[in-house]
Amino acid sequence: MEKKKAVIIGGGNIAEAVHVPHYREQKAIEVVAVLGRNAERVQAFAERNAIPRFYTDADEMYAVENPDIASVCTPNSFHYAAVMKALENGCHVLCEKPPAISADEAWKMHQAAKARSLVLAYNFHNRFAEDVKIIREKAAAGLLGDIYVTKVQALRRSGIPGWGYFTNKELQGGGPLIDIGVHMLDAAMYVLGFPAVKRVTAKQFQKIGTQKSSGSFGEWDPQKYEVEDSLFGFIELEGGGLLQIETSFALHIKEDSIMNAAFMGDQAGATLFPAHIHTDRDGKLVTLYQKNQADPECQRKSMAAFIDNCLGKEAMIADGEQGFLIQQIVEALYRSAEKGESVSL
Ligand SMILES: NC(=O)c1ccc[n+]([C@@H]2O[C@H](COP(=O)([O-])OP(=O)(O)OC[C@H]3O[C@@H](n4cnc5c(N)ncnc54)[C@H](O)[C@@H]3O)[C@@H](O)[C@H]2O)c1
Repeated sequence: MEKKKAVIIGGGNIAEAVHVPHYREQKAIEVVAVLGRNAERVQAFAERNAIPRFYTDADEMYAVENPDIASVCTPNSFHYAAVMKALENGCHVLCEKPPAISADEAWKMHQAAKARSLVLAYNFHNRFAEDVKIIREKAAAGLLGDIYVTKVQALRRSGIPGWGYFTNKELQGGGPLIDIGVHMLDAAMYVLGFPAVKRVTAKQFQKIGTQKSSGSFGEWDPQKYEVEDSLFGFIELEGGGLLQIETSFALHIKEDSIMNAAFMGDQAGATLFPAHIHTDRDGKLVTLYQKNQADPECQRKSMAAFIDNCLGKEAMIADGEQGFLIQQIVEALYRSAEKGESVSL
């Protein structure tokens, strides 16, 4: 069987830790080239990862390589242009999260993929955990009853990234909400079946990133800290449900980090990581389902599902439409926080 040719756009951390090694595991895929902005760095990336060719010019790369698949692993603000170019060149695309900087961009990406019948998937890998599958199935089967409150937490006590562009508003589009909150938001919306959103209200803070210069994720320049360090939001869903989100790079909580989503139904409640379902009987907590450890294989499963789709097999992916819906909520949360008022969708 002739192998599908994959190219990597943006040879940085996630490309090296996840995309290249997982493509390597697949017999049907061969990584033929990497595209970067800085010739020295992209060459070093290619050499370290045994990728035959590297480029700094996208047009040249597409003309020479004629690839089938592109992984977009650039900083957030370049996702849109990189995805559109890959689609124009006939590639199926796996784009890192968040889909883009704005809902408008995410919508255009979705439409472009649809118009060309190409796969566009986002690497919202948390939803691929076995834990999420279990809670989604049990919720759909009615074990939780009517889920009327969902709480999403993506909190770090001292986790302002000291590398890359994560504190740069223009390049990333925001801070913890668009970087880590978006992951848990996707997992929660996936469990809920993507209910329509009515109204969004949020408040954001920039209290720690501009004061301090180091934490457990390295050092940064507080003068150049441009994003929120925490954001709290209420998302009112059609049908009366509420989804609450709490997200931070830095916040004085007791734990190092909390990454989870909890679902409260009128029959039972559940948490995702690890999957746990519980209820109350006469004042006593009763466990209905318990998994001891969260699935560590979700990155692999996310990539495998994308590749299956590229090869014409059916597998669940975080697709262009769902990516747009998540981006729309993120944008509305930021807009609400900036305006100081609720935003209707
Ligand atoms: N799924 C996850 O859990 C996860 C984890 C980390 C990062 N990410 C996402 O991956 C993306 C990259 O993050 P990272 O940590 O790898 O960042 P990084 O800074 O390590 O890597 C980004 C790379 O892109 C290159 N680049 C910049 N602009 C480019 C352009 N226009 N064309 C081609 N290359 C370009 C940079 O030179 C750099 O090598 C972000 O969108 C981030 O949100 C996802």
